[in-house]
Amino acid sequence: MRTVEVSEFGGPEKLRLVDRPVMEPGPTEVRIHAVATSVNFADIKARQGLYHNSGRLPFVPGLDVAGIVDALGSSVTGLSIGQRVIAFPTEGSYSEYTIASRNLVYVLPDEVGWEEAAAMPTVFVTAHQLLTEVTRLAPGETVLVHAAAGGIGTAAVQLARYLGARSVVGTVGSDIKMDIARDYGANHAFNYTREPFAEMVLEATHGRGVDVILDSVGGERFAENFRCLAPYGRIAVFGNASGSYGSVLGSELHASCRAVLGYSMGTTRRLRPETLLPSVTTVLGLVADKTLKVPIGARYVLEDAALAQTLMETRQSVGKILLQISTGEK
Ligand SMILES: NC(=O)c1ccc[n+]([C@@H]2O[C@H](COP(=O)([O-])OP(=O)(O)OC[C@H]3O[C@@H](n4cnc5c(N)ncnc54)[C@H](OP(=O)(O)O)[C@@H]3O)[C@@H](O)[C@H]2O)c1
Repeated sequence: MRTVEVSEFGGPEKLRLVDRPVMEPGPTEVRIHAVATSVNFADIKARQGLYHNSGRLPFVPGLDVAGIVDALGSSVTGLSIGQRVIAFPTEGSYSEYTIASRNLVYVLPDEVGWEEAAAMPTVFVTAHQLLTEVTRLAPGETVLVHAAAGGIGTAAVQLARYLGARSVVGTVGSDIKMDIARDYGANHAFNYTREPFAEMVLEATHGRGVDVILDSVGGERFAENFRCLAPYGRIAVFGNASGSYGSVLGSELHASCRAVLGYSMGTTRRLRPETLLPSVTTVLGLVADKTLKVPIGARYVLEDAALAQTLMETRQSVGKILLQISTGEK
C-alpha cells in the first residue's frame, strides 16, 4: 500500500512515499481503506521531532481519516465491512490503509460528504472539547481565538458562536485571514503581527476583556493574554505554533480568579478515549445539518504531502488542507 513515512526528523523533504504491506487488525481494531486524510499542525511538529510524544522513527504522520471499513478484529462489534467511518488511527493516517482502535472509529452520517468528513475530526472535536470540557464556555461570554483562520481557528469561531458566545474575537497573521475569520463568524478580527492584540481586544470588548482565550500559538505574545482576560477568565493552552510556550505567574491568576488550562487530544485519545464520543457525536450532527461549515482551503494527492505541509508551515493555509487518497467507491 502507498504510505507516507518519516524516517528522519527534518524539513518537508523528509516525507517519503513508500510501499508498505497492508496490516491485519488486532482483536479490538478496525482496518480502514482511506478516502482522504487531513493535514494538522501536529504532523509538522512530529516531522520536525518537536511533538510532545515524538521519538520513534520511522513513523507515518497524520491524526485523522475518513474511509471505508475494510477488515474487523475478532472482538469488534457494532461495525460492518463497507461502512463509511471517520477515525483517529493508532499510527498515522497518511496511508492507503490504516488501523484504528474500535473505540476511536465513528460511523459517518450519510449527509456528511467525504471531504468534510476527512477535514473535521481533529479540529472540530478539539475545538468542541476546548469550549465545553476545558474552558466551560457559558452563553453570553466572550471568546478570543488565536490563529482564527486556520483549521482549529475556523472550527472554534463557529462553535463558540453556536454555543452562545456573545462575541468572538479572532487574531490572525495576515490581513487576508481577517476576512476568513469574519466569514466564519468572528465579530472582530485583528492582525496580531502588526500590533499588540491586547489593546485591540480591550477596545472591542469596551475595556472589559474576554472570558475565554484559546491559545495554540504561545511564545512571547502569550503574556499579552493576561492584559485582555476578564476576571474569572480561562485560557486554554493547546499548542505552541510560534515554536515556544509562554509562562504564567501565579500573580496573574490569584486575585483575578483566572485560570490557565492545558488540553491535548493525543493524551485524551490515549487516557480517556470514551470522553471524546459526546464531542464527536455533537460535531458530526452539526456538520450533517449544515450548522457548521468545514472550510477546505487546499487539496493535494497523498504523493504531494510535502507541498501540503509546506503550505501550512509557511502560514499560507486557511481552513483545512486535505490529502486525497482514494475515490470512496465500494
Ligand atoms: N492540543 C490539541 O489537542 C490540539 C489539536 C489540534 C491542534 N492543536 C494545535 O492547534 C494549532 C492549530 O492547529 P491546526 O492544525 O488547526 O493548524 P492551523 O491553525 O491551520 O495552522 C497553524 C497556524 O498557526 C499560526 N502560527 C502562528 N505562529 C506560527 C509560526 N511561527 N509558524 C507557523 N504557524 C504559525 C498560523 O496562523 P496565523 O498566520 O493566523 O498566525 C498558522 O496558519 C497548532 O498549534 C496545533 O498544534 C492542538
